[in-house]
Amino acid sequence: MTEERFDSGMRVRKEVLGNEHVEQVQARTTEFDADFQRFITETAWGAVWARPDLDRRTRSLVTIALLAALGREELTLHLRASRNIGVDPHEIAEVLLHVAVYAGVPAANAAFAKARGVFDQPAASPQETGSQTSQEESVNTTTIGDIVRGEREFFPPYLYEAYQSTRRRAPLLPLINLPLTISELTGPGPAISAITAEDADLTRNAGTGGEAIGQRIIVTGRVLDQQGDPVPDTLLEIWQANAAGRYLHKRDQWPGPLDPNFLGMGRCLTDKDGVYRFLTIRPGAYPWQNHANAWRPAHIHFSLFGPSMLSRLVTQMYFPDDPLHQLDPILQALPTEQARKGLIAAYAHDVTEQEWALGYRWDIVVRGAHATPFEASP
Ligand SMILES: [Fe+2]
Repeated sequence: MTEERFDSGMRVRKEVLGNEHVEQVQARTTEFDADFQRFITETAWGAVWARPDLDRRTRSLVTIALLAALGREELTLHLRASRNIGVDPHEIAEVLLHVAVYAGVPAANAAFAKARGVFDQPAASPQETGSQTSQEESVNTTTIGDIVRGEREFFPPYLYEAYQSTRRRAPLLPLINLPLTISELTGPGPAISAITAEDADLTRNAGTGGEAIGQRIIVTGRVLDQQGDPVPDTLLEIWQANAAGRYLHKRDQWPGPLDPNFLGMGRCLTDKDGVYRFLTIRPGAYPWQNHANAWRPAHIHFSLFGPSMLSRLVTQMYFPDDPLHQLDPILQALPTEQARKGLIAAYAHDVTEQEWALGYRWDIVVRGAHATPFEASP
């Protein structure tokens, strides 16, 4: 009976979540969680989802309502899966109205945000995280050519042995130039018009009504060109770990606590003086698997968009006086002390606000001899 239930559960699980997803989960399963995976397949899928008296679409909608009401991360998985069994996004919007009534507007608000993210994506099997293997590998960056190619002694090399991911992604063949098409030359217009002031407040932009836990900080600075002139209307996006050093990301599973009131993402535009400003919390250091007992120093990831979607620069900002700087192969991949210092913010007492937040200032230079070092992926 147990074997039958497992087989039936596996069949239903694949039908709902997609073969590819289930096969990926199986490939990731180890001796440690094999029993748990079997339990899920037998019970959730074999004993409940496989029952005949409710159809799959109804079960999907009920599951989505419950996960949205409870604020569970698994909601994204089931939103994606819903397309495999013919659930229409409009039906999900109806369900989320019920969530708003019976579980509260913040829960529905967060669920709508997730659903918008999912349904803006092309249909695919419901992978929870795509092919990303770490935050450091998740950035698909195309830099402004003359910046990144120009100053090899300022920018990190493609291959830096101590930073293991570079061994896999460093190009093996000479780079070639590809002519840009019109879609690639189009700027991030819709994204810019959608920005609100709340987007720059990471302590409250989770939409839960609660405030993120941690040391509140203000991070501000200017975006400048090679002449030191301000670059206005530049879209900045940041992402970071929470105060405990944990990302809200399926692949980040170390036992640091998640903060339900912290998404770790924010964005803003520079003003006419090239100034950006974020209110956030200081991120914690976090472990990664680059080498034994490896911990990343506290940092905030920054992305800047230029006039086109491809003129995107991605880098990381660090905090001063962190003993982990010396041990971090990503920071140490930068070839000079000057380049490394260019990524470290300064404590700024004039930015600090009494009984509110510590201030840090970090200017970003997008090109020229004093350009901020950016990451590049070929
Ligand atoms: Fe990171």
